[in-house]
Amino acid sequence: MHTNGLLSRTAILTAAARALGSREPDVSVRNPDWLADRLIGEAERALVADHPIGRAFGRDFQDAMADPEIFGFTWLMLVRTRCIDEYLRRAIGNGATQLVILGAGFDARAHRFHDVLKGVTVCEIDHPATQVYKRRRIDEALGPSAAAVIYAPADLAREGLSDVLRRAGVDASRPTYFICEGVSMYVPETGMKQTLQAVAGWARGSVMMLEYFNRGGLDVLMKYPSGMVKNAIDWGEPFDAGGWHPLRRAPGESVSAAPRRGAGVDGRRGPPAGRGGSRVIRLLARRAPRERLNDAQWEPPC
Ligand SMILES: C[S@@+](CC[C@H](N)C(=O)[O-])C[C@H]1O[C@@H](n2cnc3c(N)ncnc32)[C@H](O)[C@@H]1O
Repeated sequence: MHTNGLLSRTAILTAAARALGSREPDVSVRNPDWLADRLIGEAERALVADHPIGRAFGRDFQDAMADPEIFGFTWLMLVRTRCIDEYLRRAIGNGATQLVILGAGFDARAHRFHDVLKGVTVCEIDHPATQVYKRRRIDEALGPSAAAVIYAPADLAREGLSDVLRRAGVDASRPTYFICEGVSMYVPETGMKQTLQAVAGWARGSVMMLEYFNRGGLDVLMKYPSGMVKNAIDWGEPFDAGGWHPLRRAPGESVSAAPRRGAGVDGRRGPPAGRGGSRVIRLLARRAPRERLNDAQWEPPC
């Protein structure tokens, strides 16, 4: 959640990490987001100079990667980008005709996947300040996308996803791939539950890729902020104090989008959840070492 109504610098930082990772000489571990390097120019890097990644671009690549903060964050982005890209291809191959990117920041998939996204409606949701800046940078650095992009400015802490998408003209009866990458930790629990409920009611065949911190991980970070989490606080984008966990809920509470008991890491082993039969693929960003899920903590069948 932004507390300052300004451009999201965490969005610039994640894109900068992809840009740096796309310069990796070893193609087997190179970040595939080659457009991030064009989007994140000198002016953008200066905005995140508080983080070592913001200062890494003028340095020798291997030397910069010897810094654990640079290496760790760049590789986190590598896993994120590859995994979400892979499921994007699968979702479109399986018939999704809409792509919704929540808290899109400087996500360049509408451009990067323009061939795959032919005929697919793309909707990007973000805070207005970040979206205005991103659109200007896209025009300057990348030019028009072949994909038809709907930009939907919104604050998911205040507005339900269903309302935002209805207003944007995204069709709940069409199978959709939802990306929620690096966003859930900034949105309060109530906002995330509304978001999951909206996805649960979406058309059968829809898929959500959701990255999240579990409550244990958040608790540790709230208490001992370090690395980019500390930068995020300084930039007015603190992780949300509530914390949440899509596998847990209070007694009697229902979040129908959550995967069912016994579901595999991507929910495939469970039966389709929610009215619309959409499923949530969970990409756990970090789990605090002291916390381990046991079976009793998994969601009972809805
Ligand atoms: C860390 S950035 C991630 C950006 C992008 N998804 C990525 O992975 O590079 C977090 C993004 O979430 C957006 N965001 C945070 N809270 C939000 C909210 N309540 N409503 C809409 N967008 C939000 C920010 O503006 C920012 O673009």
